[in-house]
Amino acid sequence: MDKLHFTLPTEVFAERGCVAKHAKRWILGKKALIVMGKTSARLSGALDDICACLDARQIAYSTYDGISANPDCEQVYAGVALAKANGCDFIVAAGGGSVIDAAKCIAWVAANDIPKAAFFDGVPGTDALLPLAAIPLTCGTGSEVTQYAIITDHQAKTKKNVSSAAFFPKVALLDAHYLTSLPKEVLCDTALDALSHAIEGIYSLKADPLSRALAETAIGVLIQELVRLAHGVFTNLAQLHYGAMLAGMVIAQTGTGLVHAMGYPLTYYKRMPHGRANGVLLAGYLTFMQPSCPALTERILKAAGLTMPEELGALVDTLLDTQGCARPTPTEEELERFVVDPLRLEVVQRYRTLPSPEEVKDLYRMGF
Ligand SMILES: [Fe+2]
Repeated sequence: MDKLHFTLPTEVFAERGCVAKHAKRWILGKKALIVMGKTSARLSGALDDICACLDARQIAYSTYDGISANPDCEQVYAGVALAKANGCDFIVAAGGGSVIDAAKCIAWVAANDIPKAAFFDGVPGTDALLPLAAIPLTCGTGSEVTQYAIITDHQAKTKKNVSSAAFFPKVALLDAHYLTSLPKEVLCDTALDALSHAIEGIYSLKADPLSRALAETAIGVLIQELVRLAHGVFTNLAQLHYGAMLAGMVIAQTGTGLVHAMGYPLTYYKRMPHGRANGVLLAGYLTFMQPSCPALTERILKAAGLTMPEELGALVDTLLDTQGCARPTPTEEELERFVVDPLRLEVVQRYRTLPSPEEVKDLYRMGF
């Protein structure tokens, strides 16, 4: 082993009933702002569990359910206004990656009075956040164990990564029972996101033996459950949650790469869910990387129990078809537009092999 660097300041609990069992660990102040979306926190039972714990300890709270998929600045600042008006001193985020990402930004802006005009300028490493507890209600982004927040910038017409070492939640609570109410389509989309984190993490120049070991385990766990999902067999939700969290720990070290950079325009312009957009690009990405990185590609395929990238493409096809997940094909005109942004993004420079604009277009075409 040459060298290793690993950061994870988040305390993780993963077990049935962990919200009630570990309430002392995640009640991080005197008044909570519970950040969520419109449905999953209520439907999953997570909100009831959170409120019961707070009530039992006479901790006051306000709720904010204004976070949607692909949250923007407006949603963040509405949450900040609520936190300030109610004197909230800690945040509990219960939802998918969008909710947890937005909650990180609410915790940052509320604690530091960041003006809206400066929101996308970057987070100084010294900024402290209101303490944040994250309860993931999907199995995709791994945001509960990362320092990233992805927020839509309507001016730039894409999603932007707002991140800082301070953005790691203090506590993450994973109860797979909360995933029971998730539609299969969302399970499938979010698990594909997690799979892309693990695969991109392996190719990253920032990867080391530990992050690769986590990524290989994540790939094995996620593929096993994705195969079950594709064939309508009972899916182990705790394993999906575990795989997504491991993949989150990977990108916390390595960042994401080309697949994410190429997926963002598909989400912004074609309205494809984030994980699905990445999922359709994965097999093409492996095929592209194989000649320049044969050993790493072999490790990914072996971890997945596959022999060729095409098999991953076939699995994604079956998965999306059986769940009825649409994937609107981009026109050639759209591809001209999509090709510009991914290669400009700084993140892709961290990767071993960069495609030419023509190759990027081919990679898009292979996904549809
Ligand atoms: Fe992602």
